[in-house]
Amino acid sequence: MAKTKIAVLVSGRGSNLQALIDAAKDDDYPAEIVLVVSNKADAYGLERARVAGIATAVVDHRDYENREAFEEALDTVIRDHGTRIVCLAGFMRILTPWFTERWRDLLINIHPSLLPAFKGLHTHERALEAGVRIHGCSVHYVRPEMDDGPIIGQAAVPVLHGDTPDTLAQRVLEAEHKLYPQCVALACSGKARVAGERVRLQVREFGADLLMNPHD
Ligand code: GAR
Repeated sequence: MAKTKIAVLVSGRGSNLQALIDAAKDDDYPAEIVLVVSNKADAYGLERARVAGIATAVVDHRDYENREAFEEALDTVIRDHGTRIVCLAGFMRILTPWFTERWRDLLINIHPSLLPAFKGLHTHERALEAGVRIHGCSVHYVRPEMDDGPIIGQAAVPVLHGDTPDTLAQRVLEAEHKLYPQCVALACSGKARVAGERVRLQVREFGADLLMNPHD
């Protein structure tokens, strides 16, 4: 089976990128990472890509006059590598509707909360402040609104007595590393299609720690 060419966009540590790199080593994984792009030259994610022998590019937003020019450069480098699907993995720039519509249903994000709760930053602090008992992460197709769009998969983790933002973040991050490769695989094999602004999953079996859409 031909693998879907994906690009991964990072701004920092890149642990979710690493989870994707590791998953993609499997011959049966339906995606191949053809490019890792960062808006920051010192992002550790770039080093992870180099170690794995994956092409890298830096598109530094500070080198461009405005968001549009930055995103045009980003779009060009991504397309030059034959990318079919773009995965955001801790990419900390807000993308304009021009970019998100250009990649509509082909642009995926991972967010550290059970969306639509806790969009934006500091999700773990806010979950603790809100006193929720269940927290987690979501993988979704990107829409112009921040942290919004059809949900492919979610993983839940308990909030434990004595949790700090750091301990909770660590538990969620472990769930992210399982969830993201599974969701990217579903998207790349055409098993997670958008229908009416919801994702219809064409799978019976789904990881036990992923919450399925009850209507699928
Ligand atoms: C991850 O927790 C990811 O969910 C989050 O940034 C972290 C990146 O870590 N993304 C967002 O908050 C996007 N709204 P990583 O660089 O180690 O993958």
